[in-house]
Amino acid sequence: MNGAYLSIKNVSKSFGDFTALSNISLDIREGEFVCFLGPSGCGKTTLLRAVAGLDLQTEGEIHQAGEDVSWLTPDQRDFGIVFQSYALFPNLTVAENIAYGLKNRKTSRSKLNARVEELLEMIGLPESGVKYPSQLSGGQQQRVALARAIATSPGLLLLDEPLSALDALVRVHLRSEIKELQRKLGVTTIMVTHDQEEALAMADKIVVMNHGVIEQIGTPEEIYSRPKTAFVASFIGQMNFLSSRMLDDGKVQVGGQLLDCEHDKLFQPDNDMQLAIRPEDIRVRYNGDATNTMPADVRHVEFLGSFVRSELDVDGIMEPVIAEFSMNDVRDLQIAKGSRLMLDLPSSRIHLFESAR
Ligand SMILES: Nc1ncnc2c1ncn2[C@@H]1O[C@H](COP(=O)(O)OP(=O)(O)O)[C@@H](O)[C@H]1O
Ligand SMILES: [Mg+2]
Repeated sequence: MNGAYLSIKNVSKSFGDFTALSNISLDIREGEFVCFLGPSGCGKTTLLRAVAGLDLQTEGEIHQAGEDVSWLTPDQRDFGIVFQSYALFPNLTVAENIAYGLKNRKTSRSKLNARVEELLEMIGLPESGVKYPSQLSGGQQQRVALARAIATSPGLLLLDEPLSALDALVRVHLRSEIKELQRKLGVTTIMVTHDQEEALAMADKIVVMNHGVIEQIGTPEEIYSRPKTAFVASFIGQMNFLSSRMLDDGKVQVGGQLLDCEHDKLFQPDNDMQLAIRPEDIRVRYNGDATNTMPADVRHVEFLGSFVRSELDVDGIMEPVIAEFSMNDVRDLQIAKGSRLMLDLPSSRIHLFESAR
């Protein structure tokens, strides 16, 4: 074992001619909360099902707690799982649902009851054991599904879009509950989601997937501030993309402007590039030492409470540029529709990607 609790090694999965997963490798540490994040159809559920043994990979290995589990059946593996649809047994009470996995383990009656009570307490539904699933709200049903999944204290908790069927308020609330419970139990957890906000808020580590491959693995902060690919840059948060060209001296030409950029990759001079910058990274105030200044007209301003989002017409650039300015900037510089501004695009906040050919 290389210090990882779960190791996914070169896993591929085909459905007939279709490649759903292509050479996925990934290590997860004990106690870590990992999110598989990506658009619908990118292979998140397929990978989770391979980890659970519900749908075996075509190639590759999966190791859990030092054991090669690649070809084990689900009931030979050590995990609990929660699906998007609550998937509770409608004809069983809440207590019976939670006890389901425990009964199969031939636990004594009194121990079983005590464990169910403890779990009901843990999910904040101490009085609801006698109810049936249909008598509970969606959020409550999902808490019960969670209790059922952790009842046997599995080494691995698998969550497949557990919040996406719930309405927005319940979702945000349950998100912090799940996170808190996970931290308390210290259980290694994988959650599948297509919701970037959910992943950023909950994960220790995010695995960004697209078309069956991993685009980037990193902490939420790394994924957000240092996207490795144009896909990650566009999928997470808001990003302006400007057509540009790499010059000999390392500067980048955008419209008629030459910009300094900090980048660690080597790009061929004369290459067509995408220059990317987030709306909140575009500045209107600086200490006079800015080199990447660009004049712009404010085309549209949207008031969003603590800040404004403005659409800018930057001289020499075809694409509209979105920038976010604080209310202090707006007041002090009297930013409004029709204003003329001098922008600064800080070199450290610029991301560069090769244009797709
Ligand atoms: N049993 C299956 N048979 C054929 N294709 C499948 C099957 N399961 C999933 N797929 C395809 O594999 C791709 C990935 O699916 P899935 O892992 O469910 O995506 P995600 O969970 O990221 O939305 C999709 O294009 C899907 O249509
Ligand atoms: Mg899915």
